[in-house]
Amino acid sequence: MKELVCVTGASGFIASWMVKLLLERGYRVRGVVRSPDNNEKCGHLERLEGAKEGLTLLKGDLLDPDSLSAAIDGCSGVFHMACPVPSYTSTNPEVEVLSHAIKGTLNVLEACKNSKVKRIVMTSSVAAMAFDLHKPKDAPLDESCWSDEDYLRENNHWYMLGKTMGEKAAWDYSQKNGLDLVVICPSLVLGSLLQASPNASSLVVLKLLNGSSDSYENSSVGVVDVKDVANAHLLAYETKSASGRYLCRNKTVTRAEMIEIIRRLYPDYTLPTRMIEPQISLSMAKEFSQKIVNELGLKYTPVETTIKETVESLKEKGLF
Ligand SMILES: NC(=O)c1ccc[n+]([C@@H]2O[C@H](COP(=O)([O-])OP(=O)(O)OC[C@H]3O[C@@H](n4cnc5c(N)ncnc54)[C@H](OP(=O)(O)O)[C@@H]3O)[C@@H](O)[C@H]2O)c1
Repeated sequence: MKELVCVTGASGFIASWMVKLLLERGYRVRGVVRSPDNNEKCGHLERLEGAKEGLTLLKGDLLDPDSLSAAIDGCSGVFHMACPVPSYTSTNPEVEVLSHAIKGTLNVLEACKNSKVKRIVMTSSVAAMAFDLHKPKDAPLDESCWSDEDYLRENNHWYMLGKTMGEKAAWDYSQKNGLDLVVICPSLVLGSLLQASPNASSLVVLKLLNGSSDSYENSSVGVVDVKDVANAHLLAYETKSASGRYLCRNKTVTRAEMIEIIRRLYPDYTLPTRMIEPQISLSMAKEFSQKIVNELGLKYTPVETTIKETVESLKEKGLF
């Protein structure tokens, strides 16, 4: 067995694939979860191959520093993936979103500092990069880009604000305290679900399938496969020279293209037909940094495969 590592928010969509990959690669894993006894949330982790010998689930919360210290103590690496990703507009965003994203991240990093963790790989988001009114809309999107906090706050984009402020706080703390931090910034993550209930990004596809609307707004979104995102985190951990932020996105897909891919694969499904022009989007970049491919050697799954696996998985779980 390899070294001991910790994954925060282990029961989540991306983190579940992270735990699976780490176990496959022989790591011993401590998963921090809020409800270890909740079979609906954590049963799939306990059923993973190698989980009996290699996985320990510990009850923990980003806002409870002692629980984080206990989970992180003795680990050589930490994958900090936990963060509330609400699929609704929060009525109390300071408490429900921002505190977990900012203070929660600082609590994780403090535990890492005290336990002399070798490297922390944190999941930020393209949300922390792409929303900047001061740049031309078609400016390339790369790791030097930061979203504009004032714009996000004024427009109640709390999740995006939390990711931006949380990542900035993480860089600041790590630089002041000499921590080795690497950050992955995924775009919209789709693909097969290990957990029982859909997370916020899977809902984007589920809403096209479950008959909830006959119309769709034809917005564009960068898509990346959940297995590639887990792999990106492992590459960032294992590649000694990895440093800084890494944008992790495969390809831009419009909703109309997504629907077309699904229609080709499943001609019998009833899908929305009425297209609504999208509201003006802030970033319309056509060039995207390939740092993650060039420096870490990440290979992307074709987007058709990602969409197919999302649909199959939602269907298999009886979600539509
Ligand atoms: N999915 C995407 O498209 C996407 C794109 C870019 C970045 N990301 C980032 O990737 C990470 C994982 O997202 P996901 O899509 O996998 O979401 P998810 O399935 O909703 O997972 C989030 C996890 O965080 C946990 N969590 C939330 N607040 C917590 C707290 N205070 N203490 C401990 N755990 C807490 C949740 O636990 P409970 O089950 O107890 O609520 C859940 O297990 C997040 O940092 C997210 O911002 C996601």
